[in-house]
Amino acid sequence: MKFFIDTANLNDIQEAYDLGILDGVTTNPSLMAKEGIKGEANIIAHYQAICNIVDDNVSAEVIATDFEGMVKEGEALAALSPKIVVKVPIIKEGIKAIKYFSDKGIRTNCTLVFSAGQAILAAKAGATYVSPFIGRLDDVSQDGTELIEQIVHIFDNYDFETQVLAASVRHTMHLIQCAEIGAHVATCPLKVITGLLKHPLTDSGLKTFLEDYKKSQA
Ligand code: E4P
Repeated sequence: MKFFIDTANLNDIQEAYDLGILDGVTTNPSLMAKEGIKGEANIIAHYQAICNIVDDNVSAEVIATDFEGMVKEGEALAALSPKIVVKVPIIKEGIKAIKYFSDKGIRTNCTLVFSAGQAILAAKAGATYVSPFIGRLDDVSQDGTELIEQIVHIFDNYDFETQVLAASVRHTMHLIQCAEIGAHVATCPLKVITGLLKHPLTDSGLKTFLEDYKKSQA
């Protein structure tokens, strides 16, 4: 299972990378805005800074919603680094753009996926990743992990190469459920990744071991 970090915060990306378990980064315009990154030149420079930290898989989202605009933006983003994965929304023009990028060997992450039907279309178009947003489905009283299960099952039926990237992962149980289901990737904030470490019995056990070691040295 690949772990991506879902942020544009360079410190968080570096911290996750230093753990040695990070496989990539997902960003979106809201995450860039949260870091105060404004203007095209600064956005491009920020993508480059992210690419300088991680080894691969930096999702960079197109803003255009028409085919020509998406192709222009996506090609410019892909030219920044071979680590870039062009993030494209699941709309009609987006499907055409994903097919275009796929034919040109440019990797894509199809975003804002909320149904199995959308995921099938993205896979048919040749998306590298498809991103169902599970937390946002939970927010509207629909079980997001059920959608992950459904899409994994469908992709398995046809040996689709498209990987299921569980997005909008809000807590550790989301991540563990996605692992049980067999999602290829999960993207989440740093606190979800580091949250996997936490267990009170680990803390108390380590405390006792260290105290007993000290006693044995007295
Ligand atoms: C995925 O690529 C998105 O950036 C992200 O996971 C959305 O998460 P949110 O619903 O917590 O904003």
